[in-house]
Amino acid sequence: MLDSAPELRPPAPVPRSKSLGPFALLRVLATNPLEAWTDAHFEEPIVIGGPPIGRFAVLSEPAAIRRVLLENARNYKKDWLQRRVLSAGLTNGLLSAEGSRWRIQRHALAPLFSPRMVANFSAVMAEEARLMVERLSWHEGETIDLVAEVTRVTLEILARTIFSDGLGRSPEEFRTWMKDYFETIGRIDLFDILGIPETVPRPGHWKMRKTLRLFEEAIDSIISDRRRRLAEDSGYAPRDILALLLMAKAPDSGATLSESEIRANILTFIVAGHETTANAIAWSLFLSSQSAEWQKRIRMEADREFEGDINGLSERLVETRAVINEALRLYPPISAISRAALGPDELAGHAIKRGTVVVIAPYVLHRHRMLWTRPDYFDPSRFLDDTREKIDRFSYLPFGAGPRSCIGAAFALQEASIVLATIVRNFELELAEGYSVWPVQKVTLRPRGGLPMIVKKRRQSRQGTMGVKRG
Ligand code: HEM
Repeated sequence: MLDSAPELRPPAPVPRSKSLGPFALLRVLATNPLEAWTDAHFEEPIVIGGPPIGRFAVLSEPAAIRRVLLENARNYKKDWLQRRVLSAGLTNGLLSAEGSRWRIQRHALAPLFSPRMVANFSAVMAEEARLMVERLSWHEGETIDLVAEVTRVTLEILARTIFSDGLGRSPEEFRTWMKDYFETIGRIDLFDILGIPETVPRPGHWKMRKTLRLFEEAIDSIISDRRRRLAEDSGYAPRDILALLLMAKAPDSGATLSESEIRANILTFIVAGHETTANAIAWSLFLSSQSAEWQKRIRMEADREFEGDINGLSERLVETRAVINEALRLYPPISAISRAALGPDELAGHAIKRGTVVVIAPYVLHRHRMLWTRPDYFDPSRFLDDTREKIDRFSYLPFGAGPRSCIGAAFALQEASIVLATIVRNFELELAEGYSVWPVQKVTLRPRGGLPMIVKKRRQSRQGTMGVKRG
């Protein structure tokens, strides 16, 4: 473990000096796209590419990114690869809808994730973090995969905030489906890269469809049960995301969501929200485990702040959040987003033809040598005080930007802060001996093979309990 955090250079593939040939590139894209980036990507504002993937441009100039995601966003739409891989076949949920259906849904769903709504979920997040500490305590001294543990926490938190009455089925069953589902969609197969239409069956997709059907049936039965209970009992009014979805209306038209949109969005929140957040927490835990200084800073802050009111807790966890922001910089869970140009444009001094796929890769952008000092080093103080103000909005995009930016960003940051601070407050973090962590992009950017850590209860005496006071 290193004491001086700015000297910590966490594991990452060394960029290639030149591009791979077509066959090698296809192989790397199918196994770990992070290993395909070259020096030019980390040094140039734009890198134009061609076959075998089709016409594309990797963009890292903040002003040009602003143009694509915000100022000229109408000229760009999510390309099919992004829709297929990131939205997991949920074609009518917020993540993949386009045009007026997207606009209506975004307006209707925005209040669900407003700061006030998200703040109401603090208690559930703190309670689930406390239960995780209890579970980990049973394994004192053992090696545990923390990716699996935090994935469980993020799933439980989503389940409890979406459906306060519970999932109505065994959470274990849900978790198994989720695992099958992600294992199938997580594979970017050659068919996808080569642009073979989605109508051509992919190996293993029957399994995904079967799992998706099971999911949908479970959610349908929760929705109909909720509607029945609401009709029967006038005093019954849970304040969860499902209740808000059933009531959601677009402010201008008053349009409500259809039954299939409600279902697709529940699945979208689970798919978009649980593994991304779990990886953000896992990377933060790994990085904290490598820095005695930041572990101590998080701990001191948590010891102080967890004694106070739960309201506003996550905003008071300033240093913890700086570690999370730095983890999201070095290992952004969504490491590349992309858009197809609907018409010609000019970006970073280059003509962009209609149909070009513009790739904005937070992984590259966040380590770009023209935009960051010591880009490959872990230094959370970049995100503290005035230094943070100096970061261009369009050079740091863990949650995207513009109209299609992440609707769940505040939810994710609040959850990650509470869970990270609770774990670091209660345990000494130590990576299993002989294990080396390596980042791999498989839908989300995660540690390959998980994060085996030895769990040891923190020995120092301290005030209070591992929980938090309620307001
Ligand atoms: C650390 C955790 C998370 C990260 C890094 C993340 C990242 C992102 C990114 C980069 C986008 C934009 C994609 C694009 O522009 O093509 C996005 C969109 C989205 N995210 Fe997240 N996300 C996280 C957590 C969540 C959570 C907790 C939820 C919901 C509970 C959520 C729901 C969504 C939805 C619905 C969209 C689509 C928004 C739209 O198109 O209008 N995300 N996310």
